[in-house]
Amino acid sequence: MTFSHFPHKLLHWYPQNKRDLPWRNTQNPYIIWLSEIILQQTRVAQGLPYFEEFVRHYPTVQELAKAPVEEVLRLWQGLGYYSRARNLHQCARQVSEEFDGNFPDNYKALLKLKGVGQYTAAAIASFAFKEKVAVLDGNVFRVLSRYFGIDSDISSPKGKKQFQELADKLIPSGQPDEYNQAIMEFGALQCTPKRADCLHCPLRDSCYAYANDQVETLPVKIKKTKVTTRAFLYHDIDCGNKKIVKTRGPKDIWQGLTDFPLVEFADPEKIDPENSDLFQELQAFKPLIDYKSEKTYKHILSHQKIFSNFVSLTIASEKLPEVKKWADTKGYQCCDADQLEALGKPQLIVRYLNDKK
Ligand code: ADE
Repeated sequence: MTFSHFPHKLLHWYPQNKRDLPWRNTQNPYIIWLSEIILQQTRVAQGLPYFEEFVRHYPTVQELAKAPVEEVLRLWQGLGYYSRARNLHQCARQVSEEFDGNFPDNYKALLKLKGVGQYTAAAIASFAFKEKVAVLDGNVFRVLSRYFGIDSDISSPKGKKQFQELADKLIPSGQPDEYNQAIMEFGALQCTPKRADCLHCPLRDSCYAYANDQVETLPVKIKKTKVTTRAFLYHDIDCGNKKIVKTRGPKDIWQGLTDFPLVEFADPEKIDPENSDLFQELQAFKPLIDYKSEKTYKHILSHQKIFSNFVSLTIASEKLPEVKKWADTKGYQCCDADQLEALGKPQLIVRYLNDKK
């Protein structure tokens, strides 16, 4: 079997099987960049409505650059990993200010943009500018490792280098854009993580993993990420038509999002309003209290598992001026339901508010 058999088969498979996705019918680097940043965060079906909303709000990179960051975070709400949304906004500013609204037209220069790593730079350079540079994402690792029988750890630098070298050798000169899309789509639709469709696979006859019964075991990924458990007690404080909220600060998750005041506990078993200083402090306003200890919300991030309970405190509306003063001293803000709706919030808070409706 020749080396070119592999790209040749993929390029034949792709036009017959590809999904019609809006970012595929364009060479506009802004649209391609936007779609890739969103798709790093979620799957196509979930990412599509986000992509459409972003394009509707910001048809050009200049419009995104001009938007307030709060608005961008709100549109990103639910995708998670909010530093990506902040980087997206900063990158738009960078392109708008430093490059007069034009994305750089090559891999090396694209890498200098905020939030643009090797994968995104390769995607933009190949899709928009037809540069011969191979994309490596989870789909590509899987297809290459199975077909060529490579069992190096895809999360190790050594493994990544090995895959990159192979991917660079395989990419055909004339169609780097089509080929990169093809191998990613093949991984997404045919050579899937679970229940790969080997029966109808055009590469089956020459696939190492298929011949050696290793489809289930390849690729090899050694997990090293340590997951920490956190326990939050959220204080849902109402007074009149206002809620007390807090903008999250730097050096922790969800920077810039609007959150409820919270007290963190050492472990989920220890969550208890009686042991919250904030809850105790709020007793001065004689609130009505509603707390269901069994109602815990679990939220999983890449490196953190968060368990949270909510204690609801309703304060009589005539105390609002006093409450406002108190909130001010704590660095909290007061906002009404419409304002809260318009702000970007952690998904935990969105879930809680939806449950309350
Ligand atoms: N996942 C990441 N990038 C993608 C793209 N351009 N098309 C489909 N799925 C993707």
